[in-house]
Amino acid sequence: MAKVRAKIKIFRFNPEIDSKPRYEHYDVPMEEGISILQALRYIYENLDGTLAYKDYFCKTNQCGMCAMKVNGRPVFACNTKLERETVIEPLPNFPIIRDVVVDTGRESLNPSGEIWKQEVGILIRSYRNL
Ligand code: FES
Repeated sequence: MAKVRAKIKIFRFNPEIDSKPRYEHYDVPMEEGISILQALRYIYENLDGTLAYKDYFCKTNQCGMCAMKVNGRPVFACNTKLERETVIEPLPNFPIIRDVVVDTGRESLNPSGEIWKQEVGILIRSYRNL
């Protein structure tokens, strides 16, 4: 029996060479409990080595390095389960480095880190309260 596959649509953009962003589609095997980050790793290792994403850092909802937008919501990709149809995009309000990787450098955005606190800090706190 054929394995169920997830359809993933990913935002792609390399500011150094692309004139505008685009979306690319990938089919990934739906393993039991597979996370968004594991799906991105599968794509990178098996389907498209040009995909840029941040791999695991803490995997415990502490660092926020894997934060991205999934199906319209900001989430931590390390602890968000892949759905049958998933759209993955970079976090809004941060400069895009490439694809779903954004510059979360607090000082580069503003000295107080307000955007970081709003976008990622709230996310970290909401996961801690689960
Ligand atoms: S890897 Fe740290 S929150 Fe996901």
